[in-house]
Amino acid sequence: MISRISIATASLAFSMALLAMPAIAKEKAAGTPISIADATGAFHVPDGYRTSYDYIGTWSVAAPKGKDGAAEMHVVYASPKAVDGYRKNGKFSDGDVLVKEVYEAETAPMTTGIVSHTEKLKGWFVMIKDEKNSHPGNKLWGDGWAWSWFDATDPKKTTSTDYHTDCQGCHVPAKGTDWIYVQGYPVLKK
Ligand code: HEC
Repeated sequence: MISRISIATASLAFSMALLAMPAIAKEKAAGTPISIADATGAFHVPDGYRTSYDYIGTWSVAAPKGKDGAAEMHVVYASPKAVDGYRKNGKFSDGDVLVKEVYEAETAPMTTGIVSHTEKLKGWFVMIKDEKNSHPGNKLWGDGWAWSWFDATDPKKTTSTDYHTDCQGCHVPAKGTDWIYVQGYPVLKK
């Protein structure tokens, strides 16, 4: 027979296990996103995203004419549940986070051909889906998202000042898909 005490002990053990986990693992276990933004709307590159987020795709920016391979490679991650939600609803959900790593690429002959690989991290683009227009006075929030760039030297503090000038112009071609270049992410396709 399972006693009440053993149930209580088991649920206490579970709560303690949750407490002992890093925030990001907790988020994954609970299935609910924890906000990476503070009350003022300031945010940072999410800790540990390489292991706790889902990898969704890579872009290769070609080297100038006459040179082989890629000049840069961009590697994109989505917060836990973002992919599930997108596949279900055809859009990202409030609180979903996208992280794009920007790397300088190196190209060399390998046994498969002339091959580019990620070399030096330059920094991150981070976006947070925001359906509630949470920070109307903050120039890094608007049009359904929070938007920022972080130099590789400082994942905690953005150098972006205004998403209209720093980001949005370049994302106009993706306006019809909520400003996101979804064609680069096979996992979002049904
Ligand atoms: C020079 C044009 C340009 C600027 C400026 C720019 N982006 Fe992008 N962004 C793109 C393009 C094009 C892609 C997809 C292809 C790629 O990465 O090369 C992309 C992809 C992304 C992605 C991956 C999700 C997606 O849309 O596919 C994020 C996140 C992102 N950008 C955020 C930002 C933020 C935040 C800013 C401003 C701080 C910004 N971008 C500024 C052109 C730009």
